[in-house]
Amino acid sequence: MYSDKVLDHFTNPRNVGEIPDAKGIGEVGNAKCGDIMRIYLDIENDLIKDVKFKTFGCGAAVATSSMLTEMVKGKTVEEALKISNNAVAEALDGLPPLKMHCSNLAADALHAAIKNYQERDHQTG
Ligand code: FES
Repeated sequence: MYSDKVLDHFTNPRNVGEIPDAKGIGEVGNAKCGDIMRIYLDIENDLIKDVKFKTFGCGAAVATSSMLTEMVKGKTVEEALKISNNAVAEALDGLPPLKMHCSNLAADALHAAIKNYQERDHQTG
């Protein structure tokens, strides 16, 4: 039911944790299941230098967040904003249809973290 990539990222998730002085933090809850995801971004000159996540979500949420962190590292804020939940699911060779809603959690938290960064930037600069 799950692709090898999903199983790999689920059993060995990348970039789990927190960034103490994160430049942007995004937290979202999944309307369908109530699970929660938090994403921390370290950004310098609009480049995403580091990204970490913490989730109370299911295995598919863990796998999609792990994949997402690998996809956004080194990208510009603008490029990262374009990453959709579908793109993450595709990078994982697909998710079962019933689990597609779990991939929203990672993409939504990323977008919330970027928004948080942009708002702070606006306030200080
Ligand atoms: Fe809640 Fe997957 S069931 S994130």
